[in-house]
Amino acid sequence: MYVSSWPGLTLREFRHSQAGRSLPYPLASANRLSFCVARSGIYHLFRALRFKKGEIVLVPDYHSGNEVSAIRAAGASIVYYPILRNLEPDLDALSRLAKRNPRVIYVIHYLGWPQPMKEIEALCRERGSLLVEDCALSLLSETDQKPLGSFGDYSVFCLYKTLPVPNGGLLVQNRNILGDLAKLKLERCPRTAAFGRSAELALEAVRSRSDRIGKSLFGIKRAFGQMLRGARVRQVPVGNIGWDIADVNIAMSSISSTVMGGLEYDQIRRKRRENFLLMRRRLEGRVNMLRKDLKEGVCPLFFPILVQDKQSAASALWRRGIGAVEFWNRDPRADCDGGADAQYLRAHVLELPIHQGVEPSQVEYIADQVLRLELQPAQ
Ligand SMILES: Cc1ncc(COP(=O)(O)O)c(C=O)c1O
Repeated sequence: MYVSSWPGLTLREFRHSQAGRSLPYPLASANRLSFCVARSGIYHLFRALRFKKGEIVLVPDYHSGNEVSAIRAAGASIVYYPILRNLEPDLDALSRLAKRNPRVIYVIHYLGWPQPMKEIEALCRERGSLLVEDCALSLLSETDQKPLGSFGDYSVFCLYKTLPVPNGGLLVQNRNILGDLAKLKLERCPRTAAFGRSAELALEAVRSRSDRIGKSLFGIKRAFGQMLRGARVRQVPVGNIGWDIADVNIAMSSISSTVMGGLEYDQIRRKRRENFLLMRRRLEGRVNMLRKDLKEGVCPLFFPILVQDKQSAASALWRRGIGAVEFWNRDPRADCDGGADAQYLRAHVLELPIHQGVEPSQVEYIADQVLRLELQPAQ
């Protein structure tokens, strides 16, 4: 069996595409800008905010590294606040740091779970700080019947993590529209880059149905990729950890817009929630879970578990055809490892796929394999 890490692309998404269909927040927000990747939106947002010397942004110490690179490249100074083992900010520490009157408080909603927005909004009001919500991992999630990303002055989304699109990041301006952003001129996404990633997503969908056929098609795709690289065709990395200023003006591809017009968003959220609940039932009491709660409106990105040796657990699952994801490992080049809890999360969180393309039989298979491996729980 094969279970892809990310949702695969099928012809259905193209067949259902209709212009003018109503789309959920933030896909049709009036003041949205779309980029190839979300980090470009973050960069342009912080550039447009024109940070002055001495102004700071409070950023969580548990982060991918891409958002940090983008904020820093835009010229803003970062001060980190601690994230606890339950993925929520240490609100006391955040309040203490906020006494420095940060220009921005940057919040990451991890894996679809909402942060305590009432408290964070109150802190922003008290200190006169702008609120930026990073929803790269939390598209389609809600709290108190309000979509994540609609609380802040600005929010960013990574579309390709939740949806079967080759690329796409959104920057949304909920308040305080910035003039500099209106002047942005973006380049078209190179066709070969969008086509190559779409082909990969289509192959993921085939391989999830038939591992044997999918595997041989992947061989052809790999050879094709090598040929393009040999011909020096421009590639735009998506889904990597890295930063290249040369890519910040690349727009989202038209394939992504077309596919987004054909998706059933309520069904995506429902399927992810059902898969999460099934996995929880199968692993309850036998595996150390990072978050068991699933309040109404939450759209989980993965099913996160805590294991002692994350790398070897991930390799063992991959050998069994399961696309386990390691968000995020320690980056030896990073300037911040974070506090003890962020380091714990980096060392032990492993994500199991439960996206909308995962069938119940595949959830059962993943749970069986996890149990059979008798993974040592994180201490
Ligand atoms: C929390 C967070 N913010 C921002 C980003 C940047 O997203 P993208 O890969 O679309 O640039 C990522 C992904 O790397 C992320 O995990």
